[in-house]
Amino acid sequence: MTMRRLLIFGPPGSGKGTQAALLAERRRLAHISTGDMLRAAMAAGSELGHQVRALVEAGDLVSDELMLALVERRLEEDDTREGFLLDGFPRTVKQAEGLLETLGADRAPDGVLLLSVPDEELVRRALARGRADDNESTIRHRLGVYRRQTAPVLGFLKGRLPILEIEGVGTLEEITERIERELDAADS
Ligand code: AP5
Ligand code: MG
Repeated sequence: MTMRRLLIFGPPGSGKGTQAALLAERRRLAHISTGDMLRAAMAAGSELGHQVRALVEAGDLVSDELMLALVERRLEEDDTREGFLLDGFPRTVKQAEGLLETLGADRAPDGVLLLSVPDEELVRRALARGRADDNESTIRHRLGVYRRQTAPVLGFLKGRLPILEIEGVGTLEEITERIERELDAADS
């Protein structure tokens, strides 16, 4: 089986976006980053952008209803038919339940790539980047939100989907290599 419907999972700053972009390009998957979608809406000054700005800047989660609607619409687009890589979604158990229900048995995800990186490295990376939500207190807040609201998603998905655990510390190339190795092993 070739894995073409994937979730990439991990704490803020673990390299989801970086690795997802590379992987999507190589495997021709639609890269769906909910964080990028929200930031694009904010930059465009759309209604959605106004609705979410305060939450995103504080590092709090946008409502499950809004996020599910956004992702469901995105998954109806043609470029997702041949495969997709969801980055930053699902982030709550409710989102995970909604996603699996929306996809149904026909389009069920093939697996989850889980990036593990220690907290201090996450803080270091985010401070080096300096996005609007990358100051020290907001990063620590996002880590807390991850632990409380997002980490439980993993427990929900275990037993439902294969989880491929990847050590997320090292050079970009080393991590890409580890992801490819895990996927190849799961593919064969
Ligand atoms: P989102 O955009 O998803 O942010 P995040 O999960 O906090 O994660 P980041 O994007 O900061 O990190 P990443 O894991 O993608 O790592 P990256 O590759 O960038 O969400 C932002 C906000 O939107 C949320 O707080 C919430 O408000 C809202 N939101 C989004 N989705 C939502 C949802 N489903 N429900 C509700 N709300 C939602 O790498 C990080 C940095 O490290 C980069 O500078 C990168 O260059 C560097 N780096 C990457 N790899 C390495 C490496 N191997 N070594 C050294 N540096 C590295
Ligand atoms: Mg990201």
